[in-house]
Amino acid sequence: MEFPYAEPYRIKMIESIHRSTFEERGKWITDAKYNLFNLRSEQVYIDLLTDSGTGAMSDKQWSELMLGDESYAGASSYYKMKNAIKEIFGFDYFLPTHQGRAAENVLFSALIKEGDIIPGNSHFDTTKGHIEFRKATAIDCTINEAFDTTIEHPFKGNIDLEKLEKVFKTYPKEKIPVLIITITCNTSGGQPVSMQNLKDVYSLSKKYGIRVYFDSARFAENAYFIKTREKEYYNKTIREIVQEMYSYSDGMTMSSKKDAIVNMGGFIGFREEDLFKKASVYNIMFEGFITYGGMSGRDMNALAQGLYEATEFDYLESRVSQVAYLGKKLNEANVPIQKPYGGHAIFIDAKRFLPHIPKEEFQAQTLAVEFYLEGGIRTVEIGAIMADRDPITRENRYPALELVRLAIPRRTYTNSHMDYVATTIINVFEKRNEIKKGLTLVKEAPILRHFTVELQRKEN
Ligand code: F0G
Repeated sequence: MEFPYAEPYRIKMIESIHRSTFEERGKWITDAKYNLFNLRSEQVYIDLLTDSGTGAMSDKQWSELMLGDESYAGASSYYKMKNAIKEIFGFDYFLPTHQGRAAENVLFSALIKEGDIIPGNSHFDTTKGHIEFRKATAIDCTINEAFDTTIEHPFKGNIDLEKLEKVFKTYPKEKIPVLIITITCNTSGGQPVSMQNLKDVYSLSKKYGIRVYFDSARFAENAYFIKTREKEYYNKTIREIVQEMYSYSDGMTMSSKKDAIVNMGGFIGFREEDLFKKASVYNIMFEGFITYGGMSGRDMNALAQGLYEATEFDYLESRVSQVAYLGKKLNEANVPIQKPYGGHAIFIDAKRFLPHIPKEEFQAQTLAVEFYLEGGIRTVEIGAIMADRDPITRENRYPALELVRLAIPRRTYTNSHMDYVATTIINVFEKRNEIKKGLTLVKEAPILRHFTVELQRKEN
């Protein structure tokens, strides 16, 4: 008999979580103004809001915390992180930051000015926020297949080279200080970018003299998909694949809360010494001295250890298989989801789930509220609310995809939890026609509004 799949780890410590009643959840979500970010964590049974900073550290990472060197300058923990970054990605220069958006803030302060154009695949919301905050424009050059959830394409994070070349031809290179490739592409559904595409984008960018940076939060999951979906890479190790991926870049920003499996941390990797020096000034202003940049020594140690663990094949296989396990259950029940299954999350297509609710009533947010009411699971809207208003016209932007993301924290939940989540979603799917109305905006911030937005149920 063939062995079933089992995790390459066992559990050493547990944290209790509690279920609630439908009535309790009804009161809590009304008090939270239908914004799931406003819920207290004890009001949530299974928290799939994000896979960011919510993973379980290993015993080796916890041991590294004890070895942390908290010296202000030149701590051994800094050098541990520096060595791991050099070994895994090949960058000689790096700056620690307290998380991914801080890395964006520091790098963009050194690079981006008003009127600039930043092409890439779909930029993550904080990345786009930092670009637009500087009055620059992010241009999404993702392949069209990514915007149809029914198409099975192995690399839906890929950049369309024609779209990209058009941007390079339209704007002078002085206006394009950097191109950003997000791996995996969170906004289009945790979808990977192929090695071939990374290579092609890099050579096209070099032809036009453009710098290429990877937004690397889920770089290891991307490498796993390259290994399992691009046949030249079947026999390469994850580390070899990562080395090659980064040979097609000039630098990286990293949210270590994802694929370095720590609760807090980030960094920037550079190839250019000049840019590293320029960014160092902003790092000192915003984050801290360049050998700690907003991180404790112990956190830098755990981060370095996490980078090694996240680039092991067995870990990645268990991680991506768990996401696929949930995806398969939903797919078998005909719940419309982005295909193929993403690396860190399953994305539900809210337009196909609730076709009778108009987009002005925020289908994905409406659905996220229903999932919470049904089973106490917290998910996140990646749709019109997150897309913010157009910075110039102030009109609502309605993106091609209206998604609810079920992000799976790393090494945190079991497949029994996934069974519970699947049942919750399927129950809502079976009674979807009873959902008659969506939500409307009551209050919103001018940028990154989804974190603090207040909503109400649409009245007649
Ligand atoms: N880039 C990507 C692709 C991300 O997914 C995130 C964060 C960031 C940058 C910013 O990093 O949170 O450390 O400041 N994504 C989280 C999420 C918040 O839920 O997907 P951060």
